[in-house]
Amino acid sequence: MLPWDHNSFYHRLLMKHLPTGCGQVLDVGCGSGAFAARLAERADRVDAIDRSPTMIDRAQRRVPDNVTCNLADVLESPPLPDSYDAIFSISTLHHMNLTDALPVLADALRPGGTLAAIALPKTDLRREWPIELAATVTHHALGGFFYARKLLGYQNTYPTGPAEDSMPMVLAPPLTTRDVRSTAGALLPGCRVRRLLFWRYLLTWQKPL
Ligand SMILES: C[S@@+](CC[C@H](N)C(=O)[O-])C[C@H]1O[C@@H](n2cnc3c(N)ncnc32)[C@H](O)[C@@H]1O
Repeated sequence: MLPWDHNSFYHRLLMKHLPTGCGQVLDVGCGSGAFAARLAERADRVDAIDRSPTMIDRAQRRVPDNVTCNLADVLESPPLPDSYDAIFSISTLHHMNLTDALPVLADALRPGGTLAAIALPKTDLRREWPIELAATVTHHALGGFFYARKLLGYQNTYPTGPAEDSMPMVLAPPLTTRDVRSTAGALLPGCRVRRLLFWRYLLTWQKPL
């Protein structure tokens, strides 16, 4: 089985939430900048923020000119209000207190702007055992498939690398999908929280005009 990266697997899903003709976009917890670089292909300007100096250093070396990398903690240095047409975040929200983070991100969006974030839920076997089982089986099956492709000379579509190895992780996310749904629903009316297959949830919200 070939190890593969669940975060990059969900890039394509998140890109579907990028509004067309997007001006200014923020990637919160950009890590080594892979998704910010992808956003930059379709948005005019991307700000990529991370509180890890190692990650920002890696991101700076990878992203194109229309991406600005900032070493900052998004909660300690909140972005200016009404600044962004869209805000994205991958596997970062569970590093923060959700009740602190969501108002900061909502404030930074322009009216009509979109928030789309993927993060890790706490395991909730009682409610989510079917999806946990499906995730484990599919994770191994895809790992085998990617391994077979590699033997045939194809590149790994979702490679893991040294950047991912040194990435700051939270191994025990504090909130279940259900907790996130109720916390986020109270803070951002109309927000949607959907459990995804590979140990992630997707939170989406549109700021009212
Ligand atoms: C698991 S990594 C995910 C990185 C990247 N989004 C990806 O998909 O590969 C989480 C990142 O969030 C960053 N982070 C956590 N809390 C943060 C905060 N309050 N402000 C800015 N960055 C934060 C960490 O430094 C880390 O690089």
